[in-house]
This record gives sequence, structure tokens and C-alpha cells, in this order.
Amino acid sequence: MNQAKLFFSLTLLVLLLIFGAWLVFFFQWSAPMPRTAAPAVVGTGTGAAAAQAPAPLEPVFNPPALEDAPEKIRPMILLGYKIMTETKKYAPEYVGNDMACTNCHFDGGRSKDTISLVGVAAKYPLYRARREYTADLALRTQGCFERSMNGKAPAPDSQIMQSLLVYYQWISKGIPIYSNPPWAILAHHLENDHKPDAAAGKKVFADVCSRCHGEDGHGTPIAPPLWGDGAYNDGAGMDRIRTFSVFAWRFMPKSSPSLTQEQALDVAAFAKAQPRPKFVATHPNKIERVIPLPGEAKQ
Ligand code: HEC
Ligand code: HEC
Repeated sequence: MNQAKLFFSLTLLVLLLIFGAWLVFFFQWSAPMPRTAAPAVVGTGTGAAAAQAPAPLEPVFNPPALEDAPEKIRPMILLGYKIMTETKKYAPEYVGNDMACTNCHFDGGRSKDTISLVGVAAKYPLYRARREYTADLALRTQGCFERSMNGKAPAPDSQIMQSLLVYYQWISKGIPIYSNPPWAILAHHLENDHKPDAAAGKKVFADVCSRCHGEDGHGTPIAPPLWGDGAYNDGAGMDRIRTFSVFAWRFMPKSSPSLTQEQALDVAAFAKAQPRPKFVATHPNKIERVIPLPGEAKQ
């Protein structure tokens, strides 16, 4: 073998190696991406697959700290909480009474012993009988502004509404979507046949409630008004004897509820009979059905 032949063979070998390496890389890089991730566990039949299906998740009450929110959305979450707790300061144009959201949704809805909003973002959209339609949280929140706060509804694309929506979502972290967290349901009524007696309720009010809510029920520095110009209006959920009585029985006096169901029904009837702002409808309550819903007869 002469020198030239050896040199030629070595060059060929090097070229072949380079080509081989190129082939390997080429096929590795251009290997098609799987369109769907392969299932982690492959069942042997329907029975086995069913046995491996994860159990439905139970909602657990565990609202995360506001400070732990992702950096980019944290300022809006913190603002949402401030709107809930200091509503008049942060949303003055939309509040028509002396109340704040937190007066009924304690700790901005983060408490369990209140009309809790923990999980509310997983619960909605929800069919609402009042509107005969499925409503999202912006629409639901507008209702509380117009009725419970005797004010005006912020627009869905306003900073106030967007901050509230972002806030609800954060405090609902970890709650399975479309679950109905048991703590976030205010029972429709006390299952009690007692006939509400406003006269007896007047005494309950004087004995139990007036020390915080004021002799005249118009509120004090330590508790919000129950009626009068500064209270919720007569379109609010709380103006129903059934809603008020459930709320009073479960949560009042604050931190140490003590009423019997009969007392709660009586004091609810008394509150219902007191003067309060009138709800003035500024727009139709129902969503206009321009398009018939699938399966719905054309009107
Ligand atoms: C006078 C008491 C009161 C005030 C003040 C109030 N709400 Fe409500 N809110 C209610 C009642 C009652 C319900 C209905 C609860 C139910 O039926 O489970 C409700 C329901 C809600 C819901 C839906 C909860 C659910 O689980 O369906 C949201 C969201 C809400 N309120 C937000 C607000 C916001 C935001 C404010 C302040 C702008 C506010 N509320 C002020 C009484 C109040
Ligand atoms: C120890 C003081 C205290 C007593 C007593 C008390 N409350 Fe309250 N109540 C509060 C406070 C404070 C709030 C608002 C909670 C908040 O903002 O965190 C409140 C909120 C309410 C609300 C919702 C907000 C509103 O003003 O409409 C109702 C309704 C209510 N109380 C009814 C009653 C009734 C009825 C009684 C008597 C059976 C009663 N409370 C006794 C302190 C009290």
C-alpha cells in the first residue's frame, strides 16, 4: 500500500463518518412530533381503564395567600381585595349606600363563615332563575352592585370588574371546575315551619343586634346598617326573609352566632318591614334572546 492509497482510504473513512453522523442528527431532529401525548398508563380493556380513572376531586377549603399570586397578576388581585373590603374608597361611583362587599362576604369572601366566595370562579357560569339564562361572574357581580350596594354596575371591561374577576379566580385556586363547594352555598331557607313574627323580631333586634348595628338599625362604626338610606335596597337578596334569616342564624352576631331559627326568622321579618332604598331598574333584567338556543322553539 503506497502513501497515496492510505491517504485516500483515510479521507474516505472520515467522510463516511461525517455523513453517518449527519444522517443520525438529521433523522433525530426531523422525527415527527407526536400530536398527542401518549397515555401514561395503558389499560388492557374498558374495565381496567375505568378502574384507573382518577377519583373525582373533592373541593377543599384552602384559599391561597394573596401575596403568593404570580407576580404579573398580583397587583390586580390585591386591588380586587381592596375593592371588596373598601368598596366606597375604590369604587365610589358604583356605590350608593354605606356598605362594602365585605359586610356580607366577610374578609372579602375569603372566610368560610360568611357568604363565601372561595370557589366562586369554579362554580360559574351558572344558570340564574332571575335572568332565565346562564350568567357569568361579571353579570352576577353587577347584580350585587345594583342591589346590595344600591349603586351602579361597573362595565365588564372596566378595571374594577376585571380586578374582581382576577381576584375571584385566585381565591378559587385548586377548586375543581364546575364543582359546588359546600361552604359557598347559602341555603335557600331555614327548613323551619315557624311563621316569621315581626313584633317578636323587634325584641330580638333590641336584645341582640342593636348593640352593634345601632338602636335605629342605621349602623355604627363597628357594624353596617341593616336598613335606612345607607343599607341594601329592596331588590337585594338580603331583603328576602328567607335569605336574611339563613344569614342571621348562621353568622350573627358576628363571630359568635347564637340565634334560634325562630328568632332568626322573626328578626328577618322585622328587618324586612323597615324602610330602605328602592331598587330602580336601569336595564332589562333578562338577557335578550336574539338567537334561539339550540333545541329551543323560536318565539
Ligand atoms: C347586603 C349583603 C351583600 C353585599 C353588600 C354584597 N353582596 Fe354579593 N351576595 C349577597 C347575597 C345574599 C348573595 C347570594 C348568595 C347565594 O344565593 O348563595 C350574593 C352573591 C354574590 C356573588 C355570587 C356568589 C355565588 O356563590 O353565587 C358574588 C360574586 C358577589 N355576591 C359579589 C359581591 C360583590 C363584588 C359585592 C360588592 C360590590 C357584593 N357582592 C356585595 C349579598 C351581598
Ligand atoms: C358583635 C356585633 C354584632 C352583633 C351583635 C350583630 N352583628 Fe350583624 N354584623 C356585624 C358586623 C361587624 C357585620 C359586618 C361584618 C364585616 O364587615 O366583616 C355584620 C353584618 C350583618 C349583616 C350583613 C350586612 C348588613 O348590614 O346588611 C346582617 C344582615 C346582619 N349583620 C344582621 C344582624 C342581626 C339580625 C343581628 C342580631 C340578631 C346582628 N347582625 C348582630 C356585627 C354584629
